[in-house]
Amino acid sequence: MPPSSQLVIVANRLPVDRVELPDGSPGWRRSPGGLVSALDPVMRRNDGVWIGWPGGTEQDLEPFEDDGLKLVPVSLSADEVEEFYEGLSNATLWPIYHDVIAKPEFHREWWDSYVTVNRRFAEKAVQVAEEGATVWVHDYQLQLVPAMLREMRPDLRIGFYLHIPFPPAELFAQLPWRRQILEGLLGADLVGFQMAGGAQNFVRLVRQRVGHKTHRDLVYLPDGRTVRAAAFPISIDTEGYEALAREESVLDRAEEIRSAVGSPRKVFLGVDRLDYTKGIHARLRAFAELIQDGEIDVDDAVFVQVATPSRERVEQYRILREEIERLVGHVNGDLGRIGRPAIHYLHSSYPREEMAALYRAADIMVVTPYRDGMNLVAKEYVACRYDDDGALVLSEFAGAADELRQAWLVNPYDINGVKAALLDAYHASEKDAARRMKAMRKTVRKHDVSAWATRFLDGLSDVSPHEKSPRPA
Ligand code: F6P
Repeated sequence: MPPSSQLVIVANRLPVDRVELPDGSPGWRRSPGGLVSALDPVMRRNDGVWIGWPGGTEQDLEPFEDDGLKLVPVSLSADEVEEFYEGLSNATLWPIYHDVIAKPEFHREWWDSYVTVNRRFAEKAVQVAEEGATVWVHDYQLQLVPAMLREMRPDLRIGFYLHIPFPPAELFAQLPWRRQILEGLLGADLVGFQMAGGAQNFVRLVRQRVGHKTHRDLVYLPDGRTVRAAAFPISIDTEGYEALAREESVLDRAEEIRSAVGSPRKVFLGVDRLDYTKGIHARLRAFAELIQDGEIDVDDAVFVQVATPSRERVEQYRILREEIERLVGHVNGDLGRIGRPAIHYLHSSYPREEMAALYRAADIMVVTPYRDGMNLVAKEYVACRYDDDGALVLSEFAGAADELRQAWLVNPYDINGVKAALLDAYHASEKDAARRMKAMRKTVRKHDVSAWATRFLDGLSDVSPHEKSPRPA
């Protein structure tokens, strides 16, 4: 018997990962993502339920509890992982929603799988949601779920939040299933985006392609319902990160990292999922050219690049990995000296403690995506710099650039511009760096992830004030 609740979170992934326990049996470990920490307090207060895919292809998993959170797994078959997750979600939608940096693929059987899996998620939510419950659906993998829910359960209050950018109409229009996706999203009462531009793109597309009347951020449906589309920029658990960064073990580890990379004067750092949207190649090339130009010496500075393995069976990700590793090999071969590689490249994922230590160890954080919904790494770095030191070089094409205006902002397509910004940050005076960091820290302290969740849920109850149950506490 699945649990029931007044608050149901529906996301592609569960907030836990499958791990092997010391006795060899399978168990669960809380995933490090920010969404979990954002929703954890709301979930607990409302005895909420989280529906998601646990990863892998294990079938018929039963609902379970982990550290007091009620979790309902949705199983995917091997074909569905290939067609729904790797295919339509990550080889069609992901590139379209990220400026077509990679070429999207269109396959009708992938779409069929996307519809099937979205229906499975919607059906699970219907089983779990109590009368008048709030259901909050997340991200691009599940854009059909709101309309499916609406059809089966008109009593629900439905919110949808897109964590990645929503593309301009000209790119979205390439999608053979553009109308179905727009109609899927219109099942929600509130559709949330990272940026105002995404919300505007959506409203414009609804007017053009579906023909509904719109006014500012509202869409008027023929059945009398109103859908609101607005920006809710996501954030991080700022306090949690800062507290972690102050822990003695983290500070010791930061020292250890600096000495392990040769105690250079300055440490540059990049931390990303290994994704072609992140601009890893551009930043490493810019750094290498600065060494070649004689602007930076490998005795003085080192670049640490953490690349977390991601979507490894998708072809574009395989190609990217080869490209980055070839570049690192060339740069270190050409420019490094014994015991002094120019770039330390780590293809691995690390727990939050290690990330905080890396942020503490880094003098210059380099975040150069070609397109990014928000980029939480930039905010995490800022949260960890409680002495107001350190420098952030940030792409203007990351959502975070809207808030972190005091960073060294760059266009990642302009390699000379990236070089100039890296050099500027490298030579920045303490006073200039502190002024910038202080202002950015104020922003991330004020707009943290719990403020984000509260704003979204408040917005949802405002737009859907019908005689449903009260908004989640
Ligand atoms: O940013 C979008 C997103 O889907 C996140 O929700 C997720 O943490 C990340 O990308 C990793 O993606 P995946 O679930 O495909 O490993």
